[in-house]
Amino acid sequence: MKILITGCSGYIGSCLSNYLKIKGKIYFLDKDRPKSFTNIKKNFFKCNLNNLKNTERVIKKIRPDVVIHLAAKSTVNHKIKKSSYILNNIKATKNLIKAMNKFDVNKIIFSSTAAVYNENKKLIKENDYLKPISNYGKTKLFAEKEIIKNKKINYIILRFFNVAGSLTNSSIGEFHNPETHLIPISVFSALKNKSINIFGSNYKTSDGTCIRDYVHVKDICSAIEKSIFYFKKKKSLVVNIGSGKGTSNRRMLVTLSKITKKKVKISFLKKRKGDQAILVCSIDKAKKILKWKPRYSKIENILKDEISWSNFLIKKNINRKFLSVQK
Ligand SMILES: NC(=O)c1ccc[n+]([C@@H]2O[C@H](COP(=O)([O-])OP(=O)(O)OC[C@H]3O[C@@H](n4cnc5c(N)ncnc54)[C@H](O)[C@@H]3O)[C@@H](O)[C@H]2O)c1
Repeated sequence: MKILITGCSGYIGSCLSNYLKIKGKIYFLDKDRPKSFTNIKKNFFKCNLNNLKNTERVIKKIRPDVVIHLAAKSTVNHKIKKSSYILNNIKATKNLIKAMNKFDVNKIIFSSTAAVYNENKKLIKENDYLKPISNYGKTKLFAEKEIIKNKKINYIILRFFNVAGSLTNSSIGEFHNPETHLIPISVFSALKNKSINIFGSNYKTSDGTCIRDYVHVKDICSAIEKSIFYFKKKKSLVVNIGSGKGTSNRRMLVTLSKITKKKVKISFLKKRKGDQAILVCSIDKAKKILKWKPRYSKIENILKDEISWSNFLIKKNINRKFLSVQK
């Protein structure tokens, strides 16, 4: 089996390339070179999916059995122009599909997101109302639709919730520049005795702070691995991948404080526009149909692995740049 991973130089792509153990060959594609701490040393194609000709050249050369499409403009940041999301989430996906169609490559696993949903007090199900708020969510939903409407393609659309944690055995983890996700920001700040910004303390939730569904990156990798084999059933699928459990910002920070044995400094700021109070998913479909379940996604586990990754970065003198945004 030949597998192509797009977006291999990003957080999930780096982890997946170390995690995947399949019989066959894995090829890698990204517009940026892989990070030095990954094991991607060969079969790498530096290619921007916005360029159709180059994309076609790679697909023609590899003719993969399955494409795992992780490449995207993935951070939610009001400073990023809408055109950048359109280019890297919609145009890039359209080009990839065109190239796949041209060379009879017909299986894709697409990394979608919780951001396609609107807030919901109940556990979010796959056929719930879709109403993305951010440009990120809107363009990811558009990309989903482009894939679904293509008659030649079998797809598995995985809607990831809040991915966090690291591969501790191989020291590979999240490294966005700037970092916008709450867990890496909180852990790094706590280890450096810096204060953590929490936006809003009067949401209609049990402790007034936002509630999110954190899922360990190892569980994300195992969901992707299960998806590769699901194609044998020759059916397409849209499925949530989360822990199925909500953790409030406050509870996450209390847990972090317990694990690090440090008093975590918190600054409560005003609510931000566009932040939803609760986003937690039902994982019944993933359990039933994909035969997947989360094994590492307890918040304590996620935080411990993030601490070990942050300590690795600190030891290597690698600084993390933060944007004061947490989603
Ligand atoms: N990290 C999360 O919490 C999370 C949650 C839900 C969904 N997702 C989705 O999972 C996927 C991976 O997320 P991540 O956190 O690893 O993102 P990331 O930003 O770390 O990595 C994305 C990678 O895609 C590459 N890329 C972007 N545009 C490209 C283009 N036009 N051509 C080629 N390469 C391009 C980037 O260079 C980068 O290496 C994304 O599709 C994201 O939308 C992530």
